[in-house]
Amino acid sequence: MRILLTGCCGQLGQELRSRLMPLGHLFATDHQTPASDRKIFPLDLTERGSMLRILDKINPDIIVNTAAWTGVDTAETNKQKAHQINVVAPHRMAEWAAANNSLLFHYSTDYVFGGDSKKPWQETDSTVPVSEYGQSKLAGEEAIINSGCQYIILRTSWVYSSHSKNFVRTMLQLAERRKELQVVDDQLGCPTMAANVADVTVQIIQQLNAVEDPKLAGIYHYTDNKALSWCGFAERIFTKAVSIGLLKKAPDILPVDSSVFQSPASRPAYSVLNCKKITANFGVRQRSFEQALDVCLAEILSNQER
Ligand SMILES: NC(=O)c1ccc[n+]([C@@H]2O[C@H](COP(=O)([O-])OP(=O)(O)OC[C@H]3O[C@@H](n4cnc5c(N)ncnc54)[C@H](OP(=O)(O)O)[C@@H]3O)[C@@H](O)[C@H]2O)c1
Repeated sequence: MRILLTGCCGQLGQELRSRLMPLGHLFATDHQTPASDRKIFPLDLTERGSMLRILDKINPDIIVNTAAWTGVDTAETNKQKAHQINVVAPHRMAEWAAANNSLLFHYSTDYVFGGDSKKPWQETDSTVPVSEYGQSKLAGEEAIINSGCQYIILRTSWVYSSHSKNFVRTMLQLAERRKELQVVDDQLGCPTMAANVADVTVQIIQQLNAVEDPKLAGIYHYTDNKALSWCGFAERIFTKAVSIGLLKKAPDILPVDSSVFQSPASRPAYSVLNCKKITANFGVRQRSFEQALDVCLAEILSNQER
């Protein structure tokens, strides 16, 4: 099996790279390739010609597309660039996949939903994004679906890992410098470790490979198993970080409304995803949030000790 991975230096891409390698011939790509790693090939998704050339040359059975414009606030002022990467590029990949009988494995977000719910969003619920980022990710989904290719679109939420830029690492950095931290308490979602999304991806690819049932293609939700506010998430990070000696003292957390931060993009108040379909179709069960956060913090500690 030939696999093309995009965005392999990103949060999810890094976790996928090692997990996809044993499945076949992996071509890992990103638009900025580190000089230290010559096994990463340059691929900028905004360059149509080079993208099609690489697709034709590699002729992948599966395209795993983690590359995206993921800055929620910066997307508000970079609409065109976000559109190029989150809509136009996946559309081109999907058209290539449809013409070449390839599978497109793509990622989307809880931010396609509006937030005015009290029960976990199902894959079939109406989407009403409240930000440019959410809008661009939704338009990317629609472009893939309309292309007629075989696809899996995996929506996930609040992704973190022991590397890259994310909420866990930002909170730990702020906790080193501040005695008190204001954290948003009026948005509810499910923090999800990137490694778990990568494991789920591999689980699905292996099953699709074995069964080849086109009916299994479609949109799926996966998150780890606990719904929290950002404030609740920060509290768990600090408690656990102190208990393993990663942090000397937890700062005091001051719960605030999102209006206090006046960020450029709006975010949904409620973005918990219902993950029953992925369990029914692929036997994927939601992993434990508590265990995932323990693993992530232990990795951060061990990286610091090296
Ligand atoms: N992070 C979250 O909380 C979250 C939540 C829900 C869904 N998702 C979705 O999950 C997927 C993976 O997210 P992530 O957290 O792994 O994102 P990430 O860490 O930002 O990784 C995205 C990767 O894509 C690369 N990239 C950006 N522009 C590119 C271009 N023009 N051509 C090729 N590569 C390009 C980025 O490089 P640079 O870093 O150099 O820009 C980065 O390596 C995305 O589809 C995202 O929308 C993420």
